[in-house]
Amino acid sequence: MLNRYLELSKVSIEFPTDQGPFKALDEIDLILKQGEFVSLIGHSGCGKSTVLNIVAGLYQATTGGIILENKEVTDPGPDRAVVFQNHSLLPWLTAYENVELAVKQVFKKDKNAAEMKEWIEHNLTLVHMDHAMHKRPSEISGGMKQRVGIARALAMQPKVLLMDEPFGALDALTRAHLQDSLMEIQADLNSTVIMITHDVDEAVLLSDRIVMMTNGPAARIGEILEIDLPRPRNRVEISDNVEYNHYRHEVLAFLYEKQRNPADH
Ligand SMILES: Nc1ncnc2c1ncn2[C@@H]1O[C@H](COP(=O)(O)OP(=O)(O)OP(=O)(O)O)[C@@H](O)[C@H]1O
Ligand SMILES: [Mg+2]
Repeated sequence: MLNRYLELSKVSIEFPTDQGPFKALDEIDLILKQGEFVSLIGHSGCGKSTVLNIVAGLYQATTGGIILENKEVTDPGPDRAVVFQNHSLLPWLTAYENVELAVKQVFKKDKNAAEMKEWIEHNLTLVHMDHAMHKRPSEISGGMKQRVGIARALAMQPKVLLMDEPFGALDALTRAHLQDSLMEIQADLNSTVIMITHDVDEAVLLSDRIVMMTNGPAARIGEILEIDLPRPRNRVEISDNVEYNHYRHEVLAFLYEKQRNPADH
């Protein structure tokens, strides 16, 4: 297991705007171990999606960069699958075909037609989309689209799974179910995950570490909280755990005392 599996090294970014350059991130430094689950939390607009887009290779850092398994990341690639904040499925393809398109990129040579079909169906079943896999995005709900986006990312078996508020649009029960599935899948595959969330309970339940960002502009990492709770974690048992509540408190204090929502000023 690599201790420096994924490294964000002094990542800063400036966006050109009509009012001149806008510095969104200022020297973000973070090192993830292989198999680590890290959540990013911070107020709206602080720069969380920007961090993820840089790791995905969709945005280029102005200074600093990303290193994955000792190689610098400069472009997007199937080794870093993204679940976007807004599902981003191709509207003219069915759920099945959306997953198929991604899977073909990765497993073209390794799976025959029957194996490919089985793998796609398996991943859609994981997110409970087997009953609607031949529908197009316009024919399914927002939560269902999000689930297809998750299936698509999981089916790619990426080295790094990048998730931008993957469960934000889901009802509470579906969200809980998918959080549990994600914990199981991640334990099975030992995937390295960066997940953005606004949900403090979700962050504590799922993460090995929670990275708390300061408000922008020029956002930085404010604090990093290590979540030292044994796995597998059970949401019901954990809700009564003193340590769990201590971690929740730490995140809430960061968000609502140390970094107030910029909209409140
Ligand atoms: N392409 C861009 N051009 C100019 N400014 C941008 C661009 N992308 C992001 N920004 C700015 O960078 C800052 C961070 O945006 P980002 O989308 O990363 O925030 P976020 O933390 O993901 O917010 P939210 O929680 O609302 O999704 C914002 O001020 C945003 O306006
Ligand atoms: Mg965002």
